[in-house]
Amino acid sequence: MIRQKHTVWLITLGLISGGILISYTPDPDVLHKDETTDRWFTQQQVQQGGATYAQYCASCHGVQAEATPAWRKPDDQGRYPPPPLNGTAHAWHHPLPQLTDVILEGTEGGMPAWKNTLENHQVIEVIAWFQSHWPDQGYQAWIQTNKR
Ligand code: HEC
Repeated sequence: MIRQKHTVWLITLGLISGGILISYTPDPDVLHKDETTDRWFTQQQVQQGGATYAQYCASCHGVQAEATPAWRKPDDQGRYPPPPLNGTAHAWHHPLPQLTDVILEGTEGGMPAWKNTLENHQVIEVIAWFQSHWPDQGYQAWIQTNKR
C-alpha cells in the first residue's frame, strides 16, 4: 500500500516536471524591433503565419481574425465564442509568453491545444500575423504589458 502511494507520487512528480520541461518560454529577444515593419516581426514571419492561421485558426477566429462581434456573449452552456484576434478583443492584455501558452496548451473554454501540431516558431509567426492586424494603439499597449 505504502509502495503504491510512492509510485503514484513519483508518477505525479514526473508528470509535473515533464510538463514544466516541455512548456515553451519565448526568448525576450523575439521582441526586438524589426526596421522594416517597425514592430517585432518581419514581413516573412507575417506571411508564414498567415498560411498557418488560414489552415488551423480561421475556422473559429475568422478569416481576418474578426471572429464574431458577439464574442462577449456566452452560449447556453456558459461557453464563450472564439474571440477576435484582430486587436478589437482582449488578446492585447496578454504578454507574449501568455499568448504562446494559450495557443500551445489551449484552455478549458474551448480553445484547442496546438503543441502537438505546431512548432514553436509557427506559433510565433501566427502571433505576428494576427498582430499585423492590430491598430498602433493596441499594439503599443501590448508592448507595454511585455515590459512589466
Ligand atoms: C475550435 C475553435 C478554435 C480554433 C480552431 C482555434 N481557437 Fe483560439 N480560441 C477558441 C476559443 C473558444 C477561445 C476562447 C477560450 C476561452 O475563453 O477560454 C480561444 C482563444 C484564443 C486566444 C486567447 C484570446 C484572448 O483574447 O484571450 C488566442 C490567442 C487564440 N485563441 C489563438 C488561436 C490560434 C493562433 C489558433 C490557430 C493555431 C486558434 N486560436 C484556433 C477557439 C478556437
